Amino acid sequence: MRVSVTELCNLRCRYCMPAEGVCKKRHEDMLTEDEILLAVEAAASLGITKLRITGGEPLVKKNILSICRRAAAVNGIREVCLTTNGVLLPELAEDLREAGVKRLNISLDTLNPEKYAYITRTGTLDMALRGLEAALRAGFEKIKLNAVLIGGFNDDEIRPLAELTRQYPVDMRFIEMMPMYDGGDFDSAAFIPHTVVLEKLPEAVPTAGDGGVAKLYRLPGAQGNIGLISPVSAHFCGTCNRIRLTADGRIKPCLHSADEYSLKGLDFDGMRSQLEKAIWHKPAWHGDLDAAHRSRAGRNMNQIGG
Ligand code: GTP
Ligand code: 5AD
Ligand code: SF4
Repeated sequence: MRVSVTELCNLRCRYCMPAEGVCKKRHEDMLTEDEILLAVEAAASLGITKLRITGGEPLVKKNILSICRRAAAVNGIREVCLTTNGVLLPELAEDLREAGVKRLNISLDTLNPEKYAYITRTGTLDMALRGLEAALRAGFEKIKLNAVLIGGFNDDEIRPLAELTRQYPVDMRFIEMMPMYDGGDFDSAAFIPHTVVLEKLPEAVPTAGDGGVAKLYRLPGAQGNIGLISPVSAHFCGTCNRIRLTADGRIKPCLHSADEYSLKGLDFDGMRSQLEKAIWHKPAWHGDLDAAHRSRAGRNMNQIGG
């Protein structure tokens, strides 16, 4: 289960949310820390063993360490992982590790400072790289980097990004851009399929291992894998085992469906029964996704958590 703890973010990535950010929702409409934990307990009672904490940006949430620590202690939860833009890791990496977070995924779309500032609208590459270094020092079991593929923006950086797997013990994943919101900055010309990555890295060889939603490859002599995540050109809905909990307490059985099952205000049994319903009604696939068929999620990515 992917658990989004906030819709807010300290960046404004162009493929994720509009420049003006998000209209802050009423505090009382969001799940409290205790409600998030109750939802995790209900999910664990149904057999869910892995959590990925997401946002918005989960590290802007004031009680993030307490949420992670308590979630990791829930009976049945084997793994708490977290996806972040990395900006706040210099302050928080060690505390997250100590709170029981085993694995981190960090967004890194470019290694060029001007392009980083452009794509995130408000961030600096230096902050993200300092975050990566802090994560490496903190000793997580696994660190994966995420780059959203954008034609005309970072397709010329596939090689240098992939080379990070030789430099550091990290996986580098290339993600096909999913068309989320109508005001998004990119049209069909910006979409590039995962096959372009393999064309740019002819020496990459398929490798075994549990890549989750990613197909894994490896460069000779590398310390980590290259992962290809292709929700658009080769969707993996048939093997998808994820459900998503939004910060306002809705279970989304599919990232790109408008179906939502509210947990807000329910007790353990109520949450458990809503979770069961959501799982049984998980859509078979997310439907076409391209410039002409945008996501039917009804939310921007920051309001779902990726
Ligand atoms: P691990 O497999 O645990 O490493 O995590 P992950 O790859 O699921 O998590 P992460 O938050 O790093 O997400 C990477 C990208 O994969 C994001 O763009 C997500 O939106 C996308 N993704 C993850 N799960 C799904 C899914 O079920 N469907 C689709 N379409 N995309 C997904
Ligand atoms: N398409 C693909 N990936 C996206 N992400 C955010 N928005 C999109 C999108 N429209 C990625 C982020 C982060 C992960 C959680 O989701 O870059 O790494
Ligand atoms: Fe924030 Fe992540 Fe969205 Fe970028 S992709 S704006 S870092 S939530």
